[in-house]
Amino acid sequence: MEKKRKVSLSGIQPSGKITLGNYLGSIKNWVDIQDSDEFDNRYCVVDLHAITVRQNPDDLREQTYQLFAQLLAAGLDPDKCVLFIQSHVPGHPELSWVLSCFTMFGELSRMTQFKDKSQRHADNVNAGLFTYPVLMAADILIYDADIVPVGEDQRQHVELARDIAIRFNNRFPGSFVVPEAFIPKEGAKIMSLQDPSRKMSKSDSNENAYILVMDSPDDILRKFKRAVTDSDSRVAFSEDKPGVSNLINIYSVATGKTVAQVEAEFEGKGYGAFKPAVAEAVIELLRPLREKSLELLKDRAYLEDVMAKGAQKARDITDAKVMDIYDRLGFVRRR
Ligand code: TRP
Repeated sequence: MEKKRKVSLSGIQPSGKITLGNYLGSIKNWVDIQDSDEFDNRYCVVDLHAITVRQNPDDLREQTYQLFAQLLAAGLDPDKCVLFIQSHVPGHPELSWVLSCFTMFGELSRMTQFKDKSQRHADNVNAGLFTYPVLMAADILIYDADIVPVGEDQRQHVELARDIAIRFNNRFPGSFVVPEAFIPKEGAKIMSLQDPSRKMSKSDSNENAYILVMDSPDDILRKFKRAVTDSDSRVAFSEDKPGVSNLINIYSVATGKTVAQVEAEFEGKGYGAFKPAVAEAVIELLRPLREKSLELLKDRAYLEDVMAKGAQKARDITDAKVMDIYDRLGFVRRR
């Protein structure tokens, strides 16, 4: 019999557009894990999570299509992974309810993302914002995921999913695999082009702070030309030069060159030469992604077909898992 492979699962929100930071920090890692052929892969667009803050319905729908197309364009292959929309798989919210009864109020109160978001959306501190990490735990545990590739900012949520799994397993042994966060090397952390102390984020009010996967080459060039650097003009990586260091990091990831190679390449050349070179590298990195996405978006029926097939595969796994957990809890079997 074939040895059972480990499972990798992750999710990404369809709130807003996808940035270079999302691509390098998340999506590219998923594609690399998929292509390593070492894991069974499950990746989803987490639209249920997106409504914890108010969304315009038409925008949400459009962003979901866009994100799904970008995931395919980036190289996620529906024959190699289960790729789906979270709201198409009812097992996620079903398990979420169960897990919420195994999660403590105090634990959820300590989540930094909840504290942040409830400050930023003080007029809408809804229960979904509070229980968001429980739904995320359900996303993970329902597939018995071994690894969860995420950014550093999601580590605390994955830790909570572990704690919930362990607690549930103590009461009902062997129910869930206890997952582990899989956080990529520092190289992939892309900061704002306007304030390099902050992560590059699509929710930034200044659109020059981020590069979108769908930005035109002209936009990309303009944004890099305006990127914040510092007063001297040496292309050198150091803690007291966060703006330039961020650009070096981006150039390094986009070209595959090491930081030392980048420094040597621009020795004595200054920012006037360096910034357009970074822009050019990013334009070429994103070009195939953007072109393929635009092509896929012309064929909604195709996208919907891929979504439906992904959801069916996901339901085959999750329906069985929910039944198993319901049995353990003592619910009468539904038929
Ligand atoms: N909370 C994650 C984020 O904001 C998205 C997410 C939802 C997720 N469910 C998940 C990530 C399950 C990994 C696994 O980035």
